[in-house]
Amino acid sequence: MAESMAPESRLRIREKMDGVRDRKTAQTVEHITSFDKTPSQLKAEMDRYVIGQERGKKVLATAIAYHYRRLGAALQEAAVTSGGDVEKALQRVKTPKANILIVGPTGCGKTYTCEVASRLVGVPFVVEDLTKFSETGYVGQSTSDILVDLLVSAGGHTLTAQTGMVYLDEIDKIASEKTLTKDVSGKGVQKGLLKMLEGMENTIEFGKDRLTLSTRHVLFIAGGAFDGLEEIVQKRMERHGAKGFWREHLLPDDLVRYGMERQLMARLPVRVVYNALTTANLRDILTKSEDSPLQAFIKDFEAWGIRLVFTEEAVLEVARRAEQEGVGARGLTSILHRVLLEPMFSLPGTHTGEYEVNAMHVKAALA
Ligand SMILES: Nc1ncnc2c1ncn2[C@@H]1O[C@H](COP(=O)(O)OP(=O)(O)O)[C@@H](O)[C@H]1O
Ligand SMILES: [Mg+2]
Repeated sequence: MAESMAPESRLRIREKMDGVRDRKTAQTVEHITSFDKTPSQLKAEMDRYVIGQERGKKVLATAIAYHYRRLGAALQEAAVTSGGDVEKALQRVKTPKANILIVGPTGCGKTYTCEVASRLVGVPFVVEDLTKFSETGYVGQSTSDILVDLLVSAGGHTLTAQTGMVYLDEIDKIASEKTLTKDVSGKGVQKGLLKMLEGMENTIEFGKDRLTLSTRHVLFIAGGAFDGLEEIVQKRMERHGAKGFWREHLLPDDLVRYGMERQLMARLPVRVVYNALTTANLRDILTKSEDSPLQAFIKDFEAWGIRLVFTEEAVLEVARRAEQEGVGARGLTSILHRVLLEPMFSLPGTHTGEYEVNAMHVKAALA
C-alpha cells in the first residue's frame, strides 16, 4: 500500500518509466477484460477474510463487480474498434462510474474490505488520507500524487494504474464547519475533489519524461466515521415519523447537513453504513478470517517449534477486551502482543510442542 510514500519510492518510478512504454499492451489489462466474477462470487470470496458487515460486503461486491465487468466489456469492444490500441480504447470508454461512500466507526473494516476486494479483482489499490488535501489545498497536486501512487502500485503499468481502486480515507474530516460567522472550509477541498472523482487528466513529469494519466476509470471509495451523523438522521426520521434503523434511512440531505457538498455526495452514489464490530465478530476475526492476527502469531510460534493454542474462553476474553477499547478490530493485534509478550520472549529455545493460553492467562497479562 502506498499510504505515505518515501522519496526513494518516487525515484524508483523514474527507473520504471523506462520500461513503461513497452508495457502499454492489452496484456496488462487482460484480467479486467476477462473479469467474470459475479457479485455473489466476489462476496463469497470476501467472506473468507472480512467478518460481518454482510450488507457492506454485498453493496461493495456488487458495485465493484459491475464496475470491472462494465470496464472489461467496454475495453474488449473498444480494443477491436481501435485496432488493438488499448490506450486509445481506454480514452473512448464511457464507463458510468459508481463511486462508493462507506460510513462506519473506526476499525470496523472499511479500508480492509476495499483492500481485500482489490486483491480479489487483481487491481492496484492505494489509500489516500484526505486530511493531507486540506493541507496542500491544491487538488491538482494531490491528484497527480494519487496517480503516481497508483502507478507504483501497478508496477509501472500505466493502463493498470488507470483502472485501479483508490480509498479516500477520512472524508468526514473535510466537512465544512458552519459557524455563526463564517464557513470554515472544507468546502474548497470538496469542490476540488469533484473533478478528480469524475475523471481528471494529469501530466506527471519525471525529468524529461512526461506521462498523461487519467482518473476516469479509477474506482473511488471514500470512507469516514462521521461522528454525529446518526443524530442528524434520527432527528430527521423523528420529524417525518419514519421508523427503523437509521442506517437504512441515510440520505444525501443528512450528509449535506453534516457539512458535505451535495455535488460531491452525488459523485459517491453508492452508500453503505458499516456496523461497529460485536464481540462475536471480533472473536470470529480471530478464529475464522484468513487474515486472522491470531493465525499470524501461531505461525510465528511455529517457526520456533511451538504450537500455540488459545482456549475458546481465551479467544473470547481477547475479543471482549478489544470491544472495550473501542477501536474495533484494530485493537486485536496490540492486545495479542500484550498477552503473548512473556511467552514470545521466554519460550523460544526453552520449550517445544504445545503451549496453551487460557482465559486466566489473558486476564493476568492484561491486568
Ligand atoms: N470486518 C472485519 N473482518 C476482518 N478483519 C477486520 C474487519 N474489520 C477490521 N479488520 C481488521 O482490522 C484492521 C483495521 O481495519 P480497517 O479496515 O483499517 O478499519 P477502518 O474501518 O477504520 O478503515 C484491518 O486491517 C483488518 O485486519
Ligand atoms: Mg481506514
